[in-house]
Amino acid sequence: MTIDYKVDADGIATITWAMQDVPMNVLNGQSIPAFADAVKRAQADSAVKGVVVTSSKPEFIAGADLNMMLAITDVAGMMDFVTQLHALMRGIEKSGKPFVAALNGTTLGGGYEVALACHRRIAADNPKALIGLPEVGLGLLPGGGGTQRLPRMIGVRNALPFLLEGKKLAPKKALEAGLVDEVVPADQLLARAKQWLLTDGAAAAVQPWDRKGFKLPGGAVQSPMGYETFTAGNAMLRAKTFGNYPAPEAILNCVYNGCQVDIDTGCKVEMREFVKLTTGKEAKNMIHSLFFGIPAASKLASRPKGVPQASYRKVGILGAGMMGAGIAFAAAEVGMEVVLLDSSTDSAAKGKAYSENLWNKRVAAKRMTEAERDAKLTLIKPTTDFADLAGCDIVVEAVFEDRAIKADVTRKAEAVIAPGAIFASNTSTLPISGLAEASARPANFIGLHFFSPVDKMPLVEIIRGQATSDECLARAMDFVKAILKTPIVVNDSRGFYTSRVFSTYVGEGLALLAEGVKPALIDNAGRMAGMPVGPLALADEVSLELMARIRKQTAADLGKAYQRSAIDDVCDRMVDKLGRLGKKTGKGFYDYPQDGQKQLWAGLAQAFPLAATQPTVEEVKQRLMFIQSVETARCLEEKVLLAPIDADVGAILGWGFPAYLGGPIGQIHSLGLAAFVKACETLAERHGARFAPPQLLRRMADQGERFYDL
Ligand code: NAI
Repeated sequence: MTIDYKVDADGIATITWAMQDVPMNVLNGQSIPAFADAVKRAQADSAVKGVVVTSSKPEFIAGADLNMMLAITDVAGMMDFVTQLHALMRGIEKSGKPFVAALNGTTLGGGYEVALACHRRIAADNPKALIGLPEVGLGLLPGGGGTQRLPRMIGVRNALPFLLEGKKLAPKKALEAGLVDEVVPADQLLARAKQWLLTDGAAAAVQPWDRKGFKLPGGAVQSPMGYETFTAGNAMLRAKTFGNYPAPEAILNCVYNGCQVDIDTGCKVEMREFVKLTTGKEAKNMIHSLFFGIPAASKLASRPKGVPQASYRKVGILGAGMMGAGIAFAAAEVGMEVVLLDSSTDSAAKGKAYSENLWNKRVAAKRMTEAERDAKLTLIKPTTDFADLAGCDIVVEAVFEDRAIKADVTRKAEAVIAPGAIFASNTSTLPISGLAEASARPANFIGLHFFSPVDKMPLVEIIRGQATSDECLARAMDFVKAILKTPIVVNDSRGFYTSRVFSTYVGEGLALLAEGVKPALIDNAGRMAGMPVGPLALADEVSLELMARIRKQTAADLGKAYQRSAIDDVCDRMVDKLGRLGKKTGKGFYDYPQDGQKQLWAGLAQAFPLAATQPTVEEVKQRLMFIQSVETARCLEEKVLLAPIDADVGAILGWGFPAYLGGPIGQIHSLGLAAFVKACETLAERHGARFAPPQLLRRMADQGERFYDL
């Protein structure tokens, strides 16, 4: 049974969504026709005075089934789907009978569009429920009339933030915003819905926009205010997205054009835009990585089988600096006891103060009580004594990036913790298998690479050393999940996956500079491609000094095998000759005045003279983005990465690789392997072997293989 239909003695029909074999009610190939049948049945039955639409599951309806949408690949198929959806919604609102949506729980996307088509929306007072139209976050727009009905219901200005930002609200806030008409206690929901139908329903059975003389609340789109809203909105979007994300612009189109005509014509505008988005690359890429990839990683889809789930009560953290303090916060947040160890009492206390500061902010914002903060603070014990680590289920090391210091603290901690406890290193550059040599139990030694700032960054790169056991890996994944982070698992390698690929983006920026490309062109092109920061600004953030140090260390480790490049020259010149170490010291590629905005350093033109001919923005964008995909493919070929989706999840969450491309592998996939290989061959001829496509890509291209079934 998908949809239950009942009529009571008072002539009230109740249509209950009760989908089986799926966790939540969704609009799909089974439920849409079944729901449409129930609507028709109610309409045809003269005994029915009004209809309640509700759900027997904890949620009302979670939206459209995205698996089904991904499966529709052609324009005609998508047009059929959306036409059916539109007919269903129109069927509800023009049935001549009043419909009320009794929203018992979360109501999102297509689910909320069903509610919008009803003549009234009553929500249960369930603070955990969320109501809204989140489609834009996946590169889509509400295709069941949402872009037309919401502005007609609450006005264009009020509707736009919900459509453009995908804002979701709990019922009481949704009531204030006008998304629902009433909020009632959960146990009174159905009775209140019925009462409304019997008393007010008949008079409300025609939607305001189907009545003569309907006017958009808050003013028409063509009014001066409406015009201003749209021009400002468009400009803001362009400045933010550089046209990379088509969904927000499509939504503005739907609202602007659709709200100047009748609702049926408006829905046609929406249908056309919807089909364009759903059959385009961006939405597919975003659904694939954001909707499927990240949740699968968070649920530990790749966890080794057969290892019992580990629980964590007490965590040891070595080094209470920037990273250690952040990891301590994440663990205490979920109620773990934390031993925060540093070499001085002061440093350890400072590490704890980091958490206190974050919680104080929350108290000030009234999102936490003082008592709750104090309880959390008692969980963190700052110390300098390794004996305090006794009883820890896991120890995470975040001391200085120095092999000898790391080896020393590994031995001291292992002398205290139980033989089965995990020892994890948060090193950002040192290979895990090498660090594990200091360990008496290398099977329990693993890399947990966090990102800064830990409280905001969701990703943890788990690095498996040569000796790391399956059991240790599974339990480390459980730890990452327990502190509410998303893991990807990689094999040991210099720079692992994230630092290795991310550094190619920065490196390509430096190579362009060495060739005499305008610095502003380099950084603007990075941002226009969708990266959060340009490569030169990023080099300053990371610190040129650190980059130079890591490169020197790598050169020393690899000896003759190390190939110096223009990137080394730029780093050395900036750091050793020009004393420009990066943002921390206020001087890098940019100047960072204490009381002003950063500006490109005026001396750059002399240090790196401009070439007579400059590349186009598109050429620079291509180099900055393709270099990341080539290096990612090398990581796959070398089995540093175990699955393409890990690459995409890690890049999007780890360094803000743009989601519209789907990730570095998504970028290759959506361009097509053969086209990507060809483009890289040309780039390799012009700019060097770093662009040479690895065998894996050549073979896949030759054999017509694909990374994903999209
Ligand atoms: P940091 O310099 O802020 O903190 C290191 C802390 O370790 C200091 O408080 C220091 O007093 C303490 N420490 C040093 N030797 C010690 C010893 N023998 N015993 C106890 N404590 C000792 O450094 P940060 O940035 O927190 O980095 C820590 C580790 O995390 C490094 O391995 C780094 O490569 C890695 N990492 C850093 C990231 C970043 O963005 N800063 C990102 C990911 C990893």
